[in-house]
Amino acid sequence: MKIAPSILSADFINLQRDVAALEAGGADLLHIDVMDGHFVPNLAYGPQVVAALRPVTTLPLDVHLMVAQPENFIEMFAKAGADTLSIHYESTPHIYHALQMIRQLGVNASVVINPGTPVAALSEVLPLVQQVLVMTVNPGFGGQQFLPASIQKIEQLVQLRQATPTLDFDIEVDGGINAQTIQQVAAAGANVFVAGSFVFEANSPKQQIQTLRDLIE
Ligand code: DX5
Ligand code: ZN
Repeated sequence: MKIAPSILSADFINLQRDVAALEAGGADLLHIDVMDGHFVPNLAYGPQVVAALRPVTTLPLDVHLMVAQPENFIEMFAKAGADTLSIHYESTPHIYHALQMIRQLGVNASVVINPGTPVAALSEVLPLVQQVLVMTVNPGFGGQQFLPASIQKIEQLVQLRQATPTLDFDIEVDGGINAQTIQQVAAAGANVFVAGSFVFEANSPKQQIQTLRDLIE
């Protein structure tokens, strides 16, 4: 069970301070949301932010690329220090090739599906990935409400993984994860939990992370 706070809800002017608080607070990964204003209707960060964070934390950097044609950016983010690169199934006609590129760079490959994309769409790429990210909101903004239809998708992924011994991936969830929703997704089989607004909404990220952990461990 891994808690991955999203820095989308951090105080950007004090990013190093907030990242240090997440690390001291027991975060397992740092989730970094990259947005290009095309694939999603919002803008957030470039590779410089990932490169700037790399030397100031020992947490693995879980980079979520919400960009069109991610193959144009994979190498940049790998060089910047990403440990995992998540790319959307919907973001390129060449998802297979893009995931191969990530693996060839020695980075963990993760494929993401939007709320409107069925698990069945992933059948050909599951053997390539170390992680599947099931979006539990429409991507683009923090602070949205969890979409319960995603629970069934997590269960389907667990079934596929059980039925095929060669498949080996984590199941990450992202969007609307808080004290009310985390138990449902954990029970369905998710094991990596992104949380943005919940972690930062109170004064103590440490307390918020602990609250989430206590609910699932
Ligand atoms: C949304 C991003 C999320 C976001 C989650 O597009 O991918 O990572 O930061 O924020 P919350 O936890 O507030 O839903
Ligand atoms: Zn994200």
